[in-house]
Amino acid sequence: MKILVIGSGGREHAICWKLAQSKLVENLYACPGNPGTAQIAKNVNFDFENFENLKDFILNNSIDTVVVGPEAPLVNGIHDQISEDESLSYVNVIGPKKHGARLEGSKEFSKKFMFRHDVPTAKYQSFTAETLEKGEAFLETLTPPFVLKADGLAAGKGVLIISDLQTAKEELNNMLLEAKFGDAGSTVVIEEFLDGLEFSVFALTDGKDYVILPVAKDYKRIGEGDTGLNTGGMGAISPVSFVNDIMMQKVEERIVKPTVAGLKKDNIDYKGFIFFGLIEVKGEPFVIEYNARLGDPETEVVLPRLKSDFAELLHACGNGTLAEKKIEFDSRTAVTVMTVSGGYPGGYSKGKEIIGLEKVTNSIVFHAGTRKENNKILTSGGRVLAFTSFGDDKQEALLNSYKSIYKVDYSGMTYRKDIGFDL
Ligand code: AMP
Ligand code: GLY
Repeated sequence: MKILVIGSGGREHAICWKLAQSKLVENLYACPGNPGTAQIAKNVNFDFENFENLKDFILNNSIDTVVVGPEAPLVNGIHDQISEDESLSYVNVIGPKKHGARLEGSKEFSKKFMFRHDVPTAKYQSFTAETLEKGEAFLETLTPPFVLKADGLAAGKGVLIISDLQTAKEELNNMLLEAKFGDAGSTVVIEEFLDGLEFSVFALTDGKDYVILPVAKDYKRIGEGDTGLNTGGMGAISPVSFVNDIMMQKVEERIVKPTVAGLKKDNIDYKGFIFFGLIEVKGEPFVIEYNARLGDPETEVVLPRLKSDFAELLHACGNGTLAEKKIEFDSRTAVTVMTVSGGYPGGYSKGKEIIGLEKVTNSIVFHAGTRKENNKILTSGGRVLAFTSFGDDKQEALLNSYKSIYKVDYSGMTYRKDIGFDL
């Protein structure tokens, strides 16, 4: 297989890392990739959002599989463009077309989908500037906290959870009348607050069948004890102790199956990952959100636990033969601890030299926000490095990651010391 992976973060490094282990993979490219992917794949830097560039690259390098890491290119139709071009129609694109990507790209679309197909989720109503007053009246019927969601993609910032009614009304006005989240907030979904523990499940589907990857949990807040601002993710763990086999059966029967069947019923041609953002409420799973891709940093623990050949699974996804695939996992616990730049998720500086990476032997270090200059690895983002380790239990896995982190340094390096604390 000749595979192109689109993206540049820790998730894409983990995807490349897993693919590079497969005998089926002849050539592996990452666009744009990062210094981590450069160790196992060939980084290529062209504007993949310019279709002619993408097409040239695919044809010139006989690419047969394109794995799309982040959501934005999917929502913008990268898969549609490739499959609508006759000379590329053979290419296996992992990631849905525009229509399917709306499961992530539009909260309203995904809520309607869930209600249509009986997938358990919070009750909701959606509003626009024209129906603002009805929105305010709807808020009055709910018990706090209030959950307001910008319909469109808002870089993970479009969800507000507000404890008092007056502020909730003000924020609804800000979103609908003042374009607080730009176009993304021109429709707002208001939903019932669900109180419980969150976890993430990923399925790979060929549109008919699916395989479910190991369950994971991510830690979104910057501060220990899950406090402070939301980030792109400070760490993750897999498996998740409160998600037992019975819960996973419920997830499969009530959520994964009706979702995949629903896509088929609605004629949504979907090949790729479905990310189920889930919450357990009194022993029952509910969907908080769908994403049309793998999660970050969950991928950094999920793929290391996958024993099966990842390239073979992606090939089966393209061929529509996932039904024949069984997947195997490593039974050990994997954790990842993310180190970030000082100040993140607020302002932070970049270009700090990272030292000590060569001393890490007991963890896999996935690069999230780094770049290489004059043979030095420098920070280049808020989230910088993901330290993934295994252990027979959570404690051992965490100890391995923290020991590895102690060997590495850059100015302002920050990380949470309590990943997995709540389990
Ligand atoms: P989303 O972007 O939809 O995943 O929402 C971001 C975060 O907001 C989720 O990970 C949850 O922590 C929280 N959240 C979203 N919807 C709800 C809800 N209905 N009840 C409780 N928390 C929610
Ligand atoms: N870890 C959550 C996400 O990838 O959206």
